[in-house]
This record gives sequence, C-alpha cells and structure tokens, in this order.
Amino acid sequence: MTFAKGILSGKTAVVTGGATGIGAHIVRQLGRLGASVGIVSRNEEKLRQAVNSFREEDDLEVCWRSADVRERDAIQKAIEELATELGGIDILVCNAAGNFICPTEELSVNGWRSVIDIDLNGTFNCCQSALPHLKRSAEGGRIIAISTTAANFGWPGAAHAGAAKAGIQNLMKSLAVEWGRYGIRANWISPGPIAGTEGVDRLILQQGMAEQVKKSIPLGRFGEGEDIANAVVFLSAQTGNYITGAELAVDGGGQWQRR
Ligand code: COA
Repeated sequence: MTFAKGILSGKTAVVTGGATGIGAHIVRQLGRLGASVGIVSRNEEKLRQAVNSFREEDDLEVCWRSADVRERDAIQKAIEELATELGGIDILVCNAAGNFICPTEELSVNGWRSVIDIDLNGTFNCCQSALPHLKRSAEGGRIIAISTTAANFGWPGAAHAGAAKAGIQNLMKSLAVEWGRYGIRANWISPGPIAGTEGVDRLILQQGMAEQVKKSIPLGRFGEGEDIANAVVFLSAQTGNYITGAELAVDGGGQWQRR
C-alpha cells in the first residue's frame, strides 16, 4: 500500500474503460483507498467479469454501465445513472481509448475517424456529461485524462491516436482555465508502455519491438498498472489540490531518450 488507507474515503469516481488494462488498475487502487467507483465501457461481458473480479479479489463493489463514449446520449445517460448510484462524481478518469498500428498513407477515413471519435470526442463527451456533478464536488472535482507521451512528439504508425491524444491534452488545458472557477482541476497522465496491457501487446510486443523500447527507457523497464493508478490517486487526493492544466508523465523517463 502506497498511500494512507482511506485517503479517498467519501470520494466518488467514474472510470471510463475501467474493466480492463490500466483502467482496471486505476479502479482497484481508487477503491482500495476508500473511493466508491463506477465504470463504463462498451463490452458488457468484460464489465461483468471485471466487477466480479473486483469483488472477489479486492472486496470492492463497483457499479457499472455499458455505453460507448462516442455515443453522446448513451454515455451521458450512463454517467448520469452512475452519479445517482454513487451519490455524485468527484473524480472523472477518462481512460477509454482505441488504437491500432497503421501507416497514415494506408489509413482509411473511417479508421481515422474511429480513433478520433473514441479518444478525443469521447473525452469531451464524458467531461461535459460529468460537469454538473463535478461542480457539486465538495473539495473540487477532478478530471484526469489518460494520454501518452507519444502525443508530445508525433506517433509514426499511429498518427490518428497521437493527434487525438494531443487534442485531449489541449482540451485539459482549456478546461483547467474554463472550469477552474468551479474548483475543478483538469490534468492528464502520460504513461509510457505499461506491462500487461493490450496496448503494449499489440503496439510493441507484436511489432517485435520489446527490447528496442525497453532500451529507450532510462529506468530500464516497462511501467506497471499500479504506477499509473498511483499517479491518479496523487492527482485525486488533497495532494493534487493546486495542480491543474498539468501533465504528469509516468514513463520511466522514456520520452527524453527518444531517437
Ligand atoms: N489497421 C487498419 N485499419 C484498421 C485497423 C487496423 N489494425 N483496425 C481498425 N481499422 C479501421 C477499420 O478497417 C475501419 O475502417 P474501414 O471502415 O474503412 O474499414 C475503422 O478502423 C473502424 O474499425 P472497426 O473495427 O469497425 O471500429 P470499431 O469502432 O469497432 O473499433 C477500434 C475501433 C479502434 C477500437 C478497434 O480498432 C479496436 O477494437 N481496437 C482494439 C482495442 C483497442 O484499441 N484498445 C486500446 C488499447 S491500445
């Protein structure tokens, strides 16, 4: 345990894409530290499996709704229902994302649109839908978007995702300014490669790039889901009170050694 038990007691959180990967790590850590958590994502079967494993492995009751972040009415309804069930939303973690490797020259218009829609438009949909609840948060609402350090440089082979994530980062800066008056903090975390995630599997391992990428990380290893979850806690708790419009890179220093 890395934080004082109960550091998030009384807080409510919604995590998009919280059933798998980094999202599930975030859910577990928020829950273990006292927050009541709801998750929303597309796949109902994965949601049910995740909720069962949160219950069995961590003794956590996590509420859930199934919705696609691209579909405004559906995601707004899901967030609304989760807010009712949780008794509000203090923390919104925009983690849902889609990506695949494809050279831009070969990328179809629909492929481009799908990723921009899930990552960037989905984040906008969730932030705006959660706003009325974040405004009412007693200690100031928190928005934490999960981005990537690749968005700071360009992402050859995944220009669609790089552009979407760069858009998300800029959106957080704007929200930090516009919604600061409501006490809302809007920040983003930029993970490097995180072990055990579908992203690392498809974007790095399946491309045969594991050793090359590891060598490019000064700390010499891929990150763990818990590394990202701890950063979310830091930004969600009182430790994050005076931080808004900021990036927290959790990448073992990898972004400074890119070639
Ligand atoms: N290479 C090239 N184009 C691809 C592709 C790939 N690997 N994967 C999807 N596309 C294209 C599709 O061909 C389609 O375009 P088209 O209609 O012109 O053929 C478009 O993207 C939408 O794909 P589709 O699978 O119909 O859309 P979707 O909305 O169901 O899913 C993603 C889109 C991005 C979520 C999908 O690629 C996916 O399921 N990815 C795996 C999960 C994931 O991304 N997890 C995040 C971890 S990094």
